[in-house]
Amino acid sequence: MEDKKDILILGIESSCDETAAAVVKNGREILSDVIASQADFHEQYGGVVPELASRMHVDAAYPCIDSALKQAGVTLDDIDAVAVTYGPGLVGALLVGLSAAKGLCAASGKPLVGVNHLHGHICANYLCFSQLEPEFLCLCVSGGNTQIIHVKSYTELVILGKTRDDAAGEAIDKIARVIGLGYPGGPKMDKVGQGGDIHAYEFAHNHMGDTLDFSFSGIKTSALNLINQTRQKGGDINVSDFAASYQDHIATILADHIVKASKKTGIKKVCLAGGVSANSFLRKKFDEISSKYDLELYYPNLRLCTDNAAMIASAGYYEFINGRRDDMSLNAAPSLKLGRKDA
Ligand code: KG4
Repeated sequence: MEDKKDILILGIESSCDETAAAVVKNGREILSDVIASQADFHEQYGGVVPELASRMHVDAAYPCIDSALKQAGVTLDDIDAVAVTYGPGLVGALLVGLSAAKGLCAASGKPLVGVNHLHGHICANYLCFSQLEPEFLCLCVSGGNTQIIHVKSYTELVILGKTRDDAAGEAIDKIARVIGLGYPGGPKMDKVGQGGDIHAYEFAHNHMGDTLDFSFSGIKTSALNLINQTRQKGGDINVSDFAASYQDHIATILADHIVKASKKTGIKKVCLAGGVSANSFLRKKFDEISSKYDLELYYPNLRLCTDNAAMIASAGYYEFINGRRDDMSLNAAPSLKLGRKDA
């Protein structure tokens, strides 16, 4: 039996190719965390096929929810609210998790709390560091997003800078595919780059002037041109050196921006979030800047970097205690933005 004062949130996540459900106590303690990943299935197509992802979410949603409740040793009756990702993400995929959550709430009378997936990524840090509290800067880097967020409170999030084109994860995934690593490219690129020479290849720079915005499409194009030009001359690239140089370059840009953001705001506490925060080149670079600039650095453990429902339950908890309640009209929002308006 849980203490009466404890608040239990059931989190549901289905924004891309992971169906996930989790139960989290008081926004911090994971009681269960179930993930059914479709990544192996989509690998044969070289990327996520949205329609197939939606269908697989339909099959996996309720079994995941059942397992999450069972593993936590609770029933739906014990849950205080159901938190669900409603954006950003693939519309069909989001609709499956959202419909499952609405179904549970309609049947049980439990409150429904919509969660921004990116807010979830930030909250993964609360699950790993029980003492961590706002305010802090968060670099959220995933397959679809790259943003620097000023986390003013648990629910007040202000965007300081964002990518104007590709996300860092997308820039890594695309080049991973071109050099023959397949899907999902990020973890494979990380692996083959180990031991590679970070100075072997040079790429274009991010020219964003004084802003904290990013641009990765030019960098990606410069990598593509380098590969094509080398191949046209009958040569080939050294995959390990190329992967190491490319990831180090991207990590340097991300780290430089965080240093700039810290100087601008005077905030020294920095968190990483999102799938790309699992990248070892990025972590190494952030370790370097943290000692050089005296930053207090946090990154979630590897499992909580990529998509999961525990982070959604954590974000849902903070939204719930802040008074957020959604009704059955809550719709999937594929392009949902993070920030004052949406948080
Ligand atoms: O956060 P996430 O699971 O899903 C999104 O919301 O996008 O992030 C997925 C992204 C993909 O681009 C994947 O290649 C990347 O995270 N990723 C990595 C690593 N692990 C996952 N990228 C680089 N290095 C890794 N170790």
